[in-house]
Amino acid sequence: MEGLSVAQARKSENAGRQAVLQGWVRTRRDSKGGFSFIELNDGSCMANLQIVADGKLANYETEIKQLSAGCSITVEGELKPSPAKGQATEIHASRVTLVGHADPQTYELQKKRHSFEYLRTIAHLRPRTNTFGAVMRVRNQICRSIHDFFQEQGFLYIQAPIITASDCEGAGEMFKVTTFDLARVPKREQEVDYAQDFFQRPAFLTVSGQLEAEIFACSLGKVYTFGPTFRAENSNTSRHLAEFWMVEPEMAFFELSDNMDLAEAFLKRIFGDVLTKCPEDMAFFAEHIEKTTLSRLEAICNSEFVRLSYSEAIALLESAGRTWEYPVRWGTDLQAEHERYLTEEKFQKPVILFDYPRTIKPFYMRVNEDGRTVRAMDVLVPGVGEIIGGSQREERLDILKQRMAEQRLDPESYWWYLDLRRDGTVPHSGFGLGLERAVQFVTGMTNIRDVIPFPRTPGSAEF
Ligand code: 4AD
Ligand code: MG
Repeated sequence: MEGLSVAQARKSENAGRQAVLQGWVRTRRDSKGGFSFIELNDGSCMANLQIVADGKLANYETEIKQLSAGCSITVEGELKPSPAKGQATEIHASRVTLVGHADPQTYELQKKRHSFEYLRTIAHLRPRTNTFGAVMRVRNQICRSIHDFFQEQGFLYIQAPIITASDCEGAGEMFKVTTFDLARVPKREQEVDYAQDFFQRPAFLTVSGQLEAEIFACSLGKVYTFGPTFRAENSNTSRHLAEFWMVEPEMAFFELSDNMDLAEAFLKRIFGDVLTKCPEDMAFFAEHIEKTTLSRLEAICNSEFVRLSYSEAIALLESAGRTWEYPVRWGTDLQAEHERYLTEEKFQKPVILFDYPRTIKPFYMRVNEDGRTVRAMDVLVPGVGEIIGGSQREERLDILKQRMAEQRLDPESYWWYLDLRRDGTVPHSGFGLGLERAVQFVTGMTNIRDVIPFPRTPGSAEF
């Protein structure tokens, strides 16, 4: 007898086979004819497998008729074509074994539908819900597509460190990494004496693997990092996490337009894969979460992204004929209301904005001929806003030094980054895609906390 998943067992070609399945009971219904129907879910797909359990089974009265939502079981039997609607097969049990009981009085996922907010407080059980199971299967597919896309194009997967001494983005707060006893931090002339700390210097959780990826791109050509990144800013929004996953390709000899081409092809590949490889889960999202998600993704795969310079975007916003909560002025960052206008109203598709003012972007972005703008690019999508941030990097030593001085960065601590511009420097570019924002966009889930297994946000790290 062969072990099968529910996803496999539901396929009509498997009718007639003997099989063993294991999972969790969703419901049990007893028929007047002296047998029971049990819906089994094992997470392999959205749908359940229907078990038909005959009253003649030895433990029918003692165990099977006590089964309730959440109980874990093993079932053996024959897969048969099912007369019921919506399922090709069902299993006629020769044996049903209770593995772990769940008390119907206290099991949290009985019949009641919980809000997503409440489900976050029972994060140990929420993977057993339909929505969260679908989110996790789609998230898995996106991770797989990320690797497939880059591997097929000859990129090397590089693991950037999680603990770092450098601040890549220079903007938000970083989490400190220390072994100091916080009640007795060693001091020297009033200042914290980091020489006594584990790394003998201040150390942090990384905000981005980019700087390390640049090192490898400048030796190996095309690389990508993919791992957790951390931001300690106190932003309690539906799009921010303190710990999130970022994939960051970095390519030697790529200019900004090459970078934009790659980002567009990359997103289209992810969206296309999700549509073809997760049809059942995506149909669920279209039905229950966001009606337009399928047509929206299809349209995006089949049309070109808008490419617009920051200055053109400012002009469009100024002439949009409306009053903005945050006034539009060349030199300031775009707010959510501006991004929404561009992607949701004006163009109704993804927009790549490029050539931002140098004053609002990090030190590493390449300065344009005009001296006022840098070769930055942000990909904005309807509903989510910024999903990708990237740039061509400054490869000219003198200008990079100037930019670091401008932003009050200590060149000593970036000596290796500067060195890359001394020894065989090359134009190079890269970008970062926030994995959770991608999952949010694809599924239509409104809160980023509901697309990551265990969300880390200000005041929340229980699970
Ligand atoms: O725009 P960001 O800050 O860019 C970088 O970190 C660059 N070093 C990337 C690079 O060029 N290699 O972040 C990139 C993306 C954003 O567009 C967004 O999708 C996501 O990371 N992101 C967040 N996602 C969730 N929570 C947060 N707090 C995020 N901050 C950024
Ligand atoms: Mg950004």
